[in-house]
Amino acid sequence: MIDPWGRMIDYLRISVTDRCDLRCRYCRPGERTPPLPRSRILRFDEIEAVARAAIRLGVKKIRLTGGEPLMRADLGTLVGMLASIYGLRDLAMTTNGLRLAAHAAGLAAAGLRRVNVSLDAMDPGRFAAITGGGDVRRVLEGIDAARRHGLEPVKLNCVVSASVDEPDARDVAWFARREGLQARFIRQMDLAHGRFSRVEGGQGGDCPRCTRLRLTADGRVRPCLFSDLSFDVRELGPEEALERAAARKPRAGSACTSREIHSIGG
Ligand code: 5AD
Ligand code: SF4
Repeated sequence: MIDPWGRMIDYLRISVTDRCDLRCRYCRPGERTPPLPRSRILRFDEIEAVARAAIRLGVKKIRLTGGEPLMRADLGTLVGMLASIYGLRDLAMTTNGLRLAAHAAGLAAAGLRRVNVSLDAMDPGRFAAITGGGDVRRVLEGIDAARRHGLEPVKLNCVVSASVDEPDARDVAWFARREGLQARFIRQMDLAHGRFSRVEGGQGGDCPRCTRLRLTADGRVRPCLFSDLSFDVRELGPEEALERAAARKPRAGSACTSREIHSIGG
């Protein structure tokens, strides 16, 4: 797939669930939206069908996201189904890390290549405040397990509110340096008003180089995080939904009214 602006679409982010065991204040503060009913969430065979179609159409990289992907039961089975598709070059996951220690070995064995772990603060009190009660020690154990099982390079995602010089971000940068991990500092996005910026040290938010599509947990292909457009795979079939989404990728993102990063996974 090549979009109208000449970008080769080679990257699909798949949200496997809208559920999450944290309440990060920039993502789902208070959380008013009820979780999707199970019948609306794509089954593994449906996700696999979308992945196969995407790879046929030129996608080479897949990333699993959420919500929190490890909230989806039996994720290793899906990883195995996707890892065996011919033509896929990279299979990664973005996780909050809380459940990673328990799952790293199984996911690596199933064919997951690597993980990005969200880590916004090192101080346990600060981390709990930002994430609505998360335990940073479990995340650190998850990072350690991921490394031991070869889910590398482990990259850290750190959301900053204004600058990379904030104390929490400096702690994370220091930890990353000490451990030899890559850290990316992501400016907090205001999805309601479509304000976003480039990811420092990553590829997100750089419209001219954005070659990704997103599949939501309830089966809609979205051309851009900052657009409400979506194409339903159950209605249109995977191929048609993917092709229509690619054809409607905007040249650059702008304001978007639906604040559903928690079901698209960033
Ligand atoms: N702004 C920036 N990044 C966000 N994420 C979630 N909500 C936001 C937001 N409002 C990103 C975080 C997290 C990933 C799952 O999604 O980087 O690590
Ligand atoms: Fe959960 Fe990620 Fe949102 Fe935090 S940012 S509440 S970990 S989905």
